[in-house]
Amino acid sequence: MPRHGYQLVHLHCGTYSLRSLEAGETFHPAIGPVAEAEALYVKQLNLRDRIEHHAEEFVVWDVGLGAAANALTVLRATRDMACKIRLVSFDHTSKALEFGLQHARELGYFNGQEERLRGLLSNGQVTFRDGPQSVHWEFLLGDFPDLIASAAARRDRSGTPDAGTSAKIGVAPHAILFDAFSPARNPAMWTLPVFTHLYQLLDPQRPCTLPTYSRSTILRVTLLLAGFYVGVGHATGSKTETTIAANVPVLLDELLDRRWLERARRSHSAEPLMEAKHRSAPLSAETWELLQAHPQFQS
Ligand SMILES: C[S@@+](CC[C@H](N)C(=O)[O-])C[C@H]1O[C@@H](n2cnc3c(N)ncnc32)[C@H](O)[C@@H]1O
Repeated sequence: MPRHGYQLVHLHCGTYSLRSLEAGETFHPAIGPVAEAEALYVKQLNLRDRIEHHAEEFVVWDVGLGAAANALTVLRATRDMACKIRLVSFDHTSKALEFGLQHARELGYFNGQEERLRGLLSNGQVTFRDGPQSVHWEFLLGDFPDLIASAAARRDRSGTPDAGTSAKIGVAPHAILFDAFSPARNPAMWTLPVFTHLYQLLDPQRPCTLPTYSRSTILRVTLLLAGFYVGVGHATGSKTETTIAANVPVLLDELLDRRWLERARRSHSAEPLMEAKHRSAPLSAETWELLQAHPQFQS
């Protein structure tokens, strides 16, 4: 019988996090919500520096709002800066955040933002100033693969975003916090169509980076095939390496090289998922051709 809901988990590192009973996974299991969000997103995205050199609105997509630890950590890390941040959070449920708000004291990262988050949940958006920082935060409740597939199709037809949901998605991001459950538990979020649509919704004139916690060969091949440049991501907690992708190579410190490509060719688990079903397979001949032709491996 499937179990529903969330549980508060006391992690070995001493902080609390949430566990989804349905997915059977704990959010930020190794070093806790704030430490992981700082290592994986704030530091790795070089966020303060990028925002400091950015006069216009800086757009962040928060894929997998969950209980908002990543989003709040990004806001807190930049709250002393005179900046305009547009945060667009995606999730197919608001239950994790509702549960998180009920346990705000134990989780410890809400820092007095509870009322704003309640506003986000009830109105789908909230606008506020926090010192010199100004924030417009939207929450798109729905299935992420469906939302971006329809937004990409609409953009394809018209060349421009249209009204409603896709207008919000139509503001291309500068950074994407990609935090779904693992590919084994949540394969729908890790398919080639998902990352292809995501890439199509970026603005080629707007440099954008996407860090995520996995370092799997499948994920890296998927990102490359979707059009991204892909690099080695920072270590975080128990992970010695993560992954960071971007639409321009200059944003990445350590691009995957031809030696990685040769390892991928020998891997038993490298072929991207085309549908929401997890499986392991070596690279197909067609994928291998496409990888070799990727601009990342041309020099
Ligand atoms: C690891 S949790 C995110 C934790 C969150 N970033 C935080 O800081 O608290 C993964 C999230 O992805 C969401 N998710 C999973 N599948 C989804 C889908 N198909 N569409 C939208 N959201 C999805 C889950 O509901 C869950 O909240």
